[in-house]
Amino acid sequence: MPKITIVPDYQKLSVITAEKIVSYIQQKPDAVICLAGGDTPLGTYQQLKTIVKERSIDISQVTFVGLDEWVGMNETVKGSCRYTLNKHLYKPLNIAEENILFFNGKADPIHHECKRITYEMNKLGGINLILLGIGMNGHLGFNEPNVSMDEYAHVVTLDAITRKVSSKYFATPYPVSKGITLGMKTILSADKIISIANGTKKSTIIEKIINGAASPDVPASLLKNHQHVEFIIDEKAAKYIPNSTENFI
Ligand code: GLP
Repeated sequence: MPKITIVPDYQKLSVITAEKIVSYIQQKPDAVICLAGGDTPLGTYQQLKTIVKERSIDISQVTFVGLDEWVGMNETVKGSCRYTLNKHLYKPLNIAEENILFFNGKADPIHHECKRITYEMNKLGGINLILLGIGMNGHLGFNEPNVSMDEYAHVVTLDAITRKVSSKYFATPYPVSKGITLGMKTILSADKIISIANGTKKSTIIEKIINGAASPDVPASLLKNHQHVEFIIDEKAAKYIPNSTENFI
């Protein structure tokens, strides 16, 4: 059974998630940690920065792995996944470049980038802790509904919902059509998974993930098969979750 933690609001979600990441690092200072882009984890990153600085947490041996990137973009594009992580975490915490493994969405040909990331991931020995947001269609990274479950790093054609939602990340319209992402094989091989969601807009997909069967139609539902997964969801996103499955905080 996955652990499902329901928290009153986004602030609490962010604090709890950041504390979990910090305690993981304290137990395993050389952890390989994969952190998602997107809006959901921004509060967590804010808290993480504060805790690391205030408590002088040593993160110098941590390897930070990027979950995904829009094909055609790198860190120079405001709104790209790497730009977001640079701005909200890597730069404020002075993370050394050699401790970051991230997709270059501008690599040409792009499939070489899949090979590079898969090779580097193997060298690292996989992911210890992964923090995942959840797309409006239940995607994880850019593993869209019905994506193959046997993939490592791979390129995905984005579905209509993801393309529509993408406009929120960019100041001017950006015609995205593909994403490059760690595959479900890599994600589900992580030692520990934390998946977070907040806000009413995520309540319908959260209901499908938690109450429905684990199925590739809704990639995030497959997390339920993992031995060490925790969903941390705020009350708005959890409004259709039955009381019996809840762990209230
Ligand atoms: C985006 C990203 C994911 C992210 C997810 C949820 O498209 N590819 O890395 O976790 O969708 O995004 P958000 O947190 O903005 O809702």
